[in-house]
Amino acid sequence: MESVVRLEDVSVHYYTFTGVVKAVDRVTLDIPRGEFVSFVGESGSGKSTLALALLRLVPPPGRIVSGRIVFNGMDLLSLPEQKMRELRGKSISMVFQDPMTSLDPVRKVGEQIADVYIEHGVTTDMEEALKLAREALEMVGIPGDRVNYYPHQLSGGQRQRVLIAAAVALKPSLLIADEPTTALDVIVQAKIMDLLEDLMKELKMSVILITHDIALAAERSDRIAVMYAGRVVEYGPVDAIIENPLHPYTRGLLESAPDLWGEKRIKGIPGNPPDLRNPPRGCPFHPRCPRRFDPCDKDEPEYVKVDDRIVSCHLYTR
Ligand SMILES: Nc1ncnc2c1ncn2[C@@H]1O[C@H](COP(=O)(O)OP(=O)(O)OP(=O)(O)O)[C@@H](O)[C@H]1O
Ligand SMILES: [Mg+2]
Repeated sequence: MESVVRLEDVSVHYYTFTGVVKAVDRVTLDIPRGEFVSFVGESGSGKSTLALALLRLVPPPGRIVSGRIVFNGMDLLSLPEQKMRELRGKSISMVFQDPMTSLDPVRKVGEQIADVYIEHGVTTDMEEALKLAREALEMVGIPGDRVNYYPHQLSGGQRQRVLIAAAVALKPSLLIADEPTTALDVIVQAKIMDLLEDLMKELKMSVILITHDIALAAERSDRIAVMYAGRVVEYGPVDAIIENPLHPYTRGLLESAPDLWGEKRIKGIPGNPPDLRNPPRGCPFHPRCPRRFDPCDKDEPEYVKVDDRIVSCHLYTR
């Protein structure tokens, strides 16, 4: 299985006045080329920080403190910043949650897409870049003549499409979408997800979707990574995870998703995620875990391979 990107022991900390937040804690996993992989977890579990780390865009006071991120055979964490800037938007692109803050309200959307071609040296001619922008718009299902529209003249869904057009303009091999549809209604959300899937096939991209919605992830992904307190606690093929979640936290998420385990009463997971400045000893989930036993509040579970899954839980360490 060839991977588009491999994370090895990646940790990201925020150095705040009140302590060190271990937002991403020793994450190791492979994203297979051409797959749709979702990172799922509650608010504050480190999903966005992990996505930003992949682009080396973690803002201060955050810092990637250790690990390797291997993309196309290169360790991104040891590349010079100049090289990294070339890669961003060209080989690895990102779409953020809120299209209104990512788009400049006073510039036509076509120009904003055209910027990508100019910045990456595809052309120096604005006319030519605008022609390419028109094609990019059409690729995401927006009529080409809307290059002349301003962001406020488009609907929320169309604005998100514009951002996707800019992100895929240079046909990246990896597209990261961080909660791209949380601000949109469900119908528009489904259409944007369809678009991501279509583009993925058309451009032979891999997609990483960041979402708190495990039902959405289940519907769209080949693979799911479940994050809890900065750790990936379970990672594997979507069908296996839905049918038989190994980690009690994954099970809890599924039981709290109305669309997934159907008839059952929605349970939710009692308690709150830990303070990442001072996470509990042992397994970070143990204070909330219905299946905790002897070692859980003492030893941190290692990753265990179970079939084609990895899981970090003492139920499987012996
Ligand atoms: N700029 C920052 N400074 C300090 N701490 C931060 C910063 N950004 C994030 N954190 C902390 O890092 C942890 C992970 O945050 P992150 O935003 O990556 O989580 P998330 O899973 O994306 O959450 P959400 O679903 O709310 O977007 C949280 O404890 C958060 O408070
Ligand atoms: Mg986030």
